[in-house]
Amino acid sequence: MDKIVINGGKPLKGSVKISGAKNAVLPIMAAALLVDGITHVRRVPNLRDTRTMIKLLEMIGAKVKFKNGDLTIDARGKINPVAPYELVKTMRASFYVLGPLVSRCGEAKVSMPGGCAWGPRPVDYHINGLKKLSAKIELEGGYIVARAKRLIGTTIRFDYPSVGATGNIVMAAVTAEGQTKIENAAREPEIVQLCEFLKAMGADISGIGTTDIIINGVDISELTAVEIDVIPDRIEAGTFLIAGAALGEITVQDVIPEHLDSVIDKLRETGAIVSSTSSDVTVRKPDIIKPVDMTTAVYPGFATDLQAQWIALMTIAAGSSVITDTVYHDRFSHIPELIRLGAQIDVENNVASVTGVKELKGAPVMSTDIRASASLIIGALIAEGKTDISRVYHIDRGYENIEEKFRSLGADMWRESE
Ligand code: EPU
Repeated sequence: MDKIVINGGKPLKGSVKISGAKNAVLPIMAAALLVDGITHVRRVPNLRDTRTMIKLLEMIGAKVKFKNGDLTIDARGKINPVAPYELVKTMRASFYVLGPLVSRCGEAKVSMPGGCAWGPRPVDYHINGLKKLSAKIELEGGYIVARAKRLIGTTIRFDYPSVGATGNIVMAAVTAEGQTKIENAAREPEIVQLCEFLKAMGADISGIGTTDIIINGVDISELTAVEIDVIPDRIEAGTFLIAGAALGEITVQDVIPEHLDSVIDKLRETGAIVSSTSSDVTVRKPDIIKPVDMTTAVYPGFATDLQAQWIALMTIAAGSSVITDTVYHDRFSHIPELIRLGAQIDVENNVASVTGVKELKGAPVMSTDIRASASLIIGALIAEGKTDISRVYHIDRGYENIEEKFRSLGADMWRESE
């Protein structure tokens, strides 16, 4: 297993090109299974998660080529609609193949994902949504087996605007008979891009980017393969901006600045200077980092996927801040590790109270999930002295070339095998 070693306490300065969005490309890859053709996807980040999805598509029967960010998915011919436990347990987003597979094959067998590092993360909305679309659902040996000759459109209301359930149900409903309305749908840019991609394929979808998505089912034979450029990863960009506010001056390039509005607003509250062009955002560290409370929310609110990184910044703010995660109630596995670096943080339920300290100090720490790892990298870059971050395979799930990118900004950071 690899670890990342960081000699912290050094200022960062420069520009970094942001990769394509992990959480946009994964559902797009699943959606490619809907069409008996060859889909081209560009700006695909080379991540452990995209490689896992490639493996899954290949097991399902697609022929996949991936080189220099260009991905082709040839889903012509016979499809085997099974997603095995071995893959689904390593990446929950594998569950995205459920909707497209039922739609394409009339039947799908997809392993239940199980829990994850920060709690149960159920998939009940996905399953109940498919049931409402008239699929017969059974649980067999830990697998969801969904069957429907053709799904039938209906109205589905989510209790919470789940990103994954919205994506799965949209993909299933695209070829259902009649109209499907999803109420309280997710509005995240990644879901908007998925819907636009499906529309380009021939789907009839309206209300994209609003809480009510309407899908008029088309016959699956009407869908054709298309090309798409993946949107920039707003979470990777937000991670670098937060690092910049802690450590110097960083420009994130090739981004969609409006996707970063919520993090930019919060960074400005800290006193950081933020400026943007149509495709770049630059942040400059303030002399004194003001403490800023933050509550995560669905888009366009502050993303839960940046909560851990925000806490890392707040550890050295001049005062106390309160960070509340309303999306996941116990996504705080980074906190005991940040405390090992000298941070002062108390957690009660879904609320972290951070008291800023003058400095962090390097120590061995362990990463537990993708965003916790990013938080520890920021913490380690701030900390004086050496930090070893173990289990970095978590970071490789969601960040492309992270140490090269930070090194290009002046970080003293490298990878070693343990
Ligand atoms: N929920 C349910 N039942 C469901 C589905 C969700 O109760 O059937 C609850 C969840 O437990 C959670 C809330 O709804 O409390 C939101 O979960 P959501 O379904 O929106 O999350 P997701 O689709 O599983 C995606 C991202 C996550 C990101 C969340 C929230 C992908 C592949 N994953 O997960 O990204 O945190 O949305 O924005 O898009 C990451 O990239 O590190 C990551 C975890």
